[in-house]
Amino acid sequence: MASSVLTVPVNVPEHPYSITIQPGLLGELGEWVGKLTRCRRVGVITDTNVEPLYMQSVKQTLEQSGFEVFTHATPAGEQYKTLGRTSRIVDAMLEARIERSTPVIALGGGIVGDMTGFASAMALRGVPFIQVPTTLLSMVDASVGGKTGVDHRLGKNLIGAFHQPMAVLIDPAVLKTLPERELRGGLAECIKHEIIRDSEGFDRLEKNIHRALALDVDYLGELVAHNVGIKAKVVEADPFEKGERAHLNFGHTFGHVIESESQFSYSHGEAVGLGMIAAARAAVKLGLLEKRSCDRIVTLVAKAGLPVGGMTLDAKHLADMMIFDKKVKGGRVRFILPDKIGHVIIRDDVPMDVVVEALKSLT
Ligand SMILES: NC(=O)c1ccc[n+]([C@@H]2O[C@H](COP(=O)([O-])OP(=O)(O)OC[C@H]3O[C@@H](n4cnc5c(N)ncnc54)[C@H](O)[C@@H]3O)[C@@H](O)[C@H]2O)c1
Ligand SMILES: [Zn+2]
Repeated sequence: MASSVLTVPVNVPEHPYSITIQPGLLGELGEWVGKLTRCRRVGVITDTNVEPLYMQSVKQTLEQSGFEVFTHATPAGEQYKTLGRTSRIVDAMLEARIERSTPVIALGGGIVGDMTGFASAMALRGVPFIQVPTTLLSMVDASVGGKTGVDHRLGKNLIGAFHQPMAVLIDPAVLKTLPERELRGGLAECIKHEIIRDSEGFDRLEKNIHRALALDVDYLGELVAHNVGIKAKVVEADPFEKGERAHLNFGHTFGHVIESESQFSYSHGEAVGLGMIAAARAAVKLGLLEKRSCDRIVTLVAKAGLPVGGMTLDAKHLADMMIFDKKVKGGRVRFILPDKIGHVIIRDDVPMDVVVEALKSLT
């Protein structure tokens, strides 16, 4: 029996779209794309890791549905998420003589999605793009929200545009080829979503996370649908990131500094896992969160196979880096802290010693 199709609407102003999730969807991508456009030409942009895995079959299903397909593969890796490489994607699009209605598919992780989205925002002042995310992180996080862009030598994601996709099409079965460390990193964002918005979702994840790690595709489909639902609601309430979308930064204030000060030896998801633990412990220290809830968070991060201790970075130095960075920008550090599982608040008055102690607890 074919697995059921799950659909999540994203009601952003002017450009509402849906996210469709179905195991095996990739093999029928041509039919899905055919329902979205009358155009008979389509581009597929991917990276050099995903290309040998999926490009041939994707091209085939699109051609079987009557599309003329052009393709481009950009080198995999954050170091290539640049304006220069994105301009090559634009070159490929213009050389294929795209028109304003020609859709472009981003087939890959968050990097391909961010670059392709940005290229499609720029080419001809905007062509439609379709996200086909292939990492857990890009399924539950990067493909929703319309943020597209690239890195600059002065920092990550400093150049970009808001450009909503016309649809997001997700096949959780592609997670079977994803390196396990990437899968675990995506689970960190899933845990984050439950902590900021959904205590029942947190309970369910506690019971079922082993099924995600065992690559139970039907469960992964449900998990992705539930998580894009949470992210979509946050984005709908704050499409241009003026307020509550900051809740999505839970675990990231601590996490970003851990990630960058480790010279990226911690992956993003690993650093966010540690960051969520530090934030939860700071919340306990401030009398906001029960210790029992904090312990559940630590246990779930550990169950996801993410580190929960053993950090060798200096806590005082990390705290200085967090605060220095904000002071330079003329602001105070805003911490997203849970006051119970399923709910967070924003605080910009967390004392330095609480920050340092929370970071020390990770060593
Ligand atoms: N736009 C947003 O709102 C948003 C949100 C979060 C993150 N991001 C961005 O997303 C990027 C990170 O995304 P990511 O974690 O998906 O990284 P990624 O795109 O680098 O993918 C991770 C690795 O997995 C490989 N890969 C992808 N799918 C695969 C599959 N099915 N099988 C085997 N290998 C596969 C990729 O080639 C890559 O090596 C960052 O640049 C970050 O800034 C954007
Ligand atoms: Zn993140």
